[in-house]
Amino acid sequence: MSAQPQVIRREDYTAPAFLIDKVELVFDLDRDVTNVKSRLFIIANPVRGTGAGNEVSFDGEDMKLVSIAIDDRKLGVDEYNVDKTGLTFTAPGETFVVDIETQVSPVANTRLEGLYVSQSAFCTQCEAEGFRRITYFPDRPDVMATFTVTINADKATCPVLLSNGNLAKSGDLDGNRHFAVWEDPFPKPSYLFALVAGDLACVEDRFKTVSGRDVALRIFVEHGNEDRCDYAMDSLKRSMKWDEEVYGLEYDLDLFNIVAVSDFNMGAMENKSLNIFNAKYILAKPDTATDMDYELIESIVAHEYFHNWSGNRVTCRDWFQLSLKEGLTVFRDQEFSADQRSRPVQRIKDVAQLRARQFPEDGGPLAHPVRPDSYMEINNFYTATVYEKGAELIRMMHTLLGADGYRKGIDLYFDRHDGQAVTCDDFAKAMEDANDVDLTQLKRWYSQAGTPSLSWKGDYYADAKQFRLTVSQKTAPTPGQPDKFALHMPIAIGLLGKDGKELVSRTVQLTENEQEFVFDNINETPVVSFNRGFSAPVNIATQQPHDELVFLMGNDSDAFNRWESAQKYATALMLTAIEEYEKNDGDADGALGDVTDFITAMRATLQNADLDKAFRADALVLPGEEFLSEQRKPANPEAIHQVRNALRKQIGTMLKAEFADTYHQNASNAAFTPDAQSAGQRALRATALGYLVASGDAQFADLAVAQYRNADNMTDRMAALAVLNHLDHPGRAEALADFEARFGKDTVVMDKWFGLQAMSSRDDTLARVKDLMSHPSFTMRNPNKVRSLIGAFAMANPRHFHAVDGSGYEFYTDRLIELDDVNPQVAARLCAPLGKWAKYDDERAAKMKAALDRVLAKPEISRDLYEIASKSRAA
Ligand code: TRP
Ligand code: ZN
Repeated sequence: MSAQPQVIRREDYTAPAFLIDKVELVFDLDRDVTNVKSRLFIIANPVRGTGAGNEVSFDGEDMKLVSIAIDDRKLGVDEYNVDKTGLTFTAPGETFVVDIETQVSPVANTRLEGLYVSQSAFCTQCEAEGFRRITYFPDRPDVMATFTVTINADKATCPVLLSNGNLAKSGDLDGNRHFAVWEDPFPKPSYLFALVAGDLACVEDRFKTVSGRDVALRIFVEHGNEDRCDYAMDSLKRSMKWDEEVYGLEYDLDLFNIVAVSDFNMGAMENKSLNIFNAKYILAKPDTATDMDYELIESIVAHEYFHNWSGNRVTCRDWFQLSLKEGLTVFRDQEFSADQRSRPVQRIKDVAQLRARQFPEDGGPLAHPVRPDSYMEINNFYTATVYEKGAELIRMMHTLLGADGYRKGIDLYFDRHDGQAVTCDDFAKAMEDANDVDLTQLKRWYSQAGTPSLSWKGDYYADAKQFRLTVSQKTAPTPGQPDKFALHMPIAIGLLGKDGKELVSRTVQLTENEQEFVFDNINETPVVSFNRGFSAPVNIATQQPHDELVFLMGNDSDAFNRWESAQKYATALMLTAIEEYEKNDGDADGALGDVTDFITAMRATLQNADLDKAFRADALVLPGEEFLSEQRKPANPEAIHQVRNALRKQIGTMLKAEFADTYHQNASNAAFTPDAQSAGQRALRATALGYLVASGDAQFADLAVAQYRNADNMTDRMAALAVLNHLDHPGRAEALADFEARFGKDTVVMDKWFGLQAMSSRDDTLARVKDLMSHPSFTMRNPNKVRSLIGAFAMANPRHFHAVDGSGYEFYTDRLIELDDVNPQVAARLCAPLGKWAKYDDERAAKMKAALDRVLAKPEISRDLYEIASKSRAA
């Protein structure tokens, strides 16, 4: 990077000067040099902005322009301009045809954007701006065209040739090559284009849509993985049915393809009728995938399928509107999972993730609104804020309008905008018009960054039988937004009587900075269950007394708040103890003091057979070290680690008998099934094992070794390995060696093995991570490997990453710099942990800032990494 990257601003949007009606692409596939011919049928945009001249400007990067012709006349070199970012030429009139020929090198493409090779197959990734690495094109989502794609390739190495839409023609060519022609009847932006060619196995099924259309469903995987596609296929069929039933949305083509590839920057991609997946989110069988893997496969398959409407049929006008499709689609996949599994358990999982990923983002140097105002590199804005906070915004609309009102809004949205590229405002307008409501204030959630903090206070007036609840909100400044407005949010409230009975359940609308809500006919001082179901995505500053939290843990009819009360109690205990630990020179047990009341409440949860097992497992998990770090300033990773472990040890010790019972009672002889109930049983048993081992009693480490040896499924195997992972026990090395011997050839499974070792709290972890970099299965070219070894070290091992001597930062910074030359998109994502320096003590902060300086001093730093590192350094 020579100059500072350009900042793109939302307010600078202008409509495209030229539109493209039809695109015809011809690929001559070759690993080293692929030839791409593109024929574009262009028309001047009838609503083009004033001042738009007749200059045509196409995006294009990192490829060779072979030739360009307009209306069949080849242009001379003085008739066009080509530079590092694109191609410009003069339009001959209002409608014309352009032919462009380019060459790209798939095998040299380590960025995994555009056309690249994964294992032996060719594949593409075009969102957000990868298409411009294949051919020169107006690579922006508001230019939508129909695509006809011809693929020519070697018959032996590429028997399978796929693109979007329907197969129109195929046949043989000279020289052991063959071809296929694909036609997609739906106009789409370039980011939804996809091509796959390779020697892949196919698993096939069918789905009959509600109107009777018979759809062929195909999942393509590497040979040998055919027996790992059942769950993804089943998830796909359930998603298709759910979208018909809940949203009235039907699939619109006769064919739906999914391809699983090993090398992929993100989770998966919703290319029209040709979804491409990171293999880890497709492949599963009981002995290779955990319950959590099954859960993720189900939700990501659903997510990508749902994009067919929320993203593809109606797409984004520009990338600032990304949450239009992502926030809505995440909300849709969360609700799908809630309907397929347990609703409260799903909500707990989604909230825990929001708090672990999005809240820290919103409180740090990279904070940005759900609809950002500017960016340098759009790939950096596929964030927890755009996805998950965006989903919370849609959820609040759903709460406000009710299920029926929400559905009316959705119907109007798809009716009005089908086939268009639109904005978040268009979405909100459809919701408003369909329900005759004004969402002006709610829409501030799109533009205002930062997590609001709420305080509340209840006053009971016995004479008037009245309970008055005063609620206030405040949002701290974020970079570029010093002043914050009051937001509109629905707060679900429950009032409970002394006997545990519910007196009131009501959702109030908070719109002011401070507001009072009055509840009449209340006969006693109630206990407040605040923000039930996490109806608003906020922090709650008000501390409820411990006895009220215990009461809510046992009595709240809102399962989410039962869990939340346990989390709050545990958090309060640990935060107090962390402060104490810092004063008492590192005696964690002394710092904790008497925690009997808390553990008694945990016992009640563990033994409450009315609660589902998955819920109990979640409710027994203490808030994580990362979460606790967020609540402390400066955060002391060592203190947090020691205190949390000490509390785990005490729980394990005091509830040893109960956990041992739980462990044995929840053993199962039945064959593994991935359903939510069986998964819940395994989760509860794993939680029990974890606490038993945490008690320090050596017999339980042996129990974990036995569980590892006898496991007949990956969930139990990993649960055992995860607890052994932190121990100094011969069983640990034995199990890791066994795992490697069993799964060494299986790249998806080996990610777990790398990840575990990176997350170990053992003292030799950093040395081990360094060694593992030269393991034959490890490569910096594969994003999953990088994330599981290097990413996990920084993101899931705070104690070692933040080692005071700076060794963690130093190792990590070297890797970021190295990775930037291979894959800037992944390098930029991994940079975020260094940006948290303001959360730490001066010594650590100085080292983290120095690390960022070192990143920024890298010659030829990518735009991706530059944006994250410079913003992180500045704040
Ligand atoms: N649109 C994809 C999704 O959310 C995300 C995605 C896949 C992506 N690959 C990408 C985003 C590459 C940016 C770059 O389903
Ligand atoms: Zn998505």
